[in-house]
Amino acid sequence: MYQGKTALITGASSGIGESFAHELAGKGMNLIVVARSEAKLKQLAQTLMAKHNVQVDVVVADLTQDHAAHSVYDQITQLQRKVDLLINNAGVASYGVFDKMPLEKQENEIKLNVLTVVSLTHLILQDMLKRRQGAIINVASGSGFQPTPFMAVYGATKAFIISWSESLWAETRSQGISVVTLCPGRTATNIQEVMGGDTGAPGKDVPPAQVVQTGLRALEKDKMTVIDGLGNYWVAQLARLFPRKFVVNLSYRIFGKNVTHGV
Ligand SMILES: NC(=O)c1ccc[n+]([C@@H]2O[C@H](COP(=O)([O-])OP(=O)(O)OC[C@H]3O[C@@H](n4cnc5c(N)ncnc54)[C@H](OP(=O)(O)O)[C@@H]3O)[C@@H](O)[C@H]2O)c1
Repeated sequence: MYQGKTALITGASSGIGESFAHELAGKGMNLIVVARSEAKLKQLAQTLMAKHNVQVDVVVADLTQDHAAHSVYDQITQLQRKVDLLINNAGVASYGVFDKMPLEKQENEIKLNVLTVVSLTHLILQDMLKRRQGAIINVASGSGFQPTPFMAVYGATKAFIISWSESLWAETRSQGISVVTLCPGRTATNIQEVMGGDTGAPGKDVPPAQVVQTGLRALEKDKMTVIDGLGNYWVAQLARLFPRKFVVNLSYRIFGKNVTHGV
């Protein structure tokens, strides 16, 4: 399933994406690692090539930029690499009061978490469909199962990914393509530092390697959607059962505890 094949991982310079890179290289996969931090990606590539004897190509890209997906796709084509497993993982979150946080920051969040994911998938899926073979893991979030006041844009981007990714699963499953929607809960990565604070979301931070194992197990078992952690699973189920107004008010109280105006 993995040996000798190629995975493209966005956001591979830290956190869950970096953990995917280590795990998949260990399984004998060649990699294309994408993010903005060139030095970190090059260091990662050197480490993985030396340790696992796989090929690792670095593509430096700011995925909030217009046509970023096309630029990444062109670079893969120039490298003459075919992608067997696409992991749409790069993502950011912003935490604060919607109207107090800069608009540009929230627009970039939508571009990175949604727009580029859709575009890159559309481009790479064409090649997978021609071969009638391929797999995609879309990293969503438990935040996508209910509205998240003070992370209003983030939760909405992840709700988009869950809905879109599950539809994609249904549309492509008879054509040899697997699509897994991976929904982590709190995970010990740089994300909180980047968004400028602890949101007070329930649960304990788990290591990114746990999320990666959950995602790969789901892929191997041909699952559509997987939520990492039993507690996160039940939170998502309960959010569906209670009235929306109750759920959003509860979210408001939970995420409002630590909130400042946001940066
Ligand atoms: N950690 C959690 O608690 C948690 C929970 C649920 C879901 N998730 C999801 O998991 C995914 C990975 O996040 P993480 O927790 O591993 O966070 P992280 O450690 O902050 O990693 C984020 C990755 O995205 C890349 N990235 C950020 N902005 C980018 C841009 N403009 N262009 C290209 N790459 C960019 C970063 O690389 P550069 O900075 O080098 O560009 C980094 O590699 C995200 O989709 C996140 O929403 C995380």
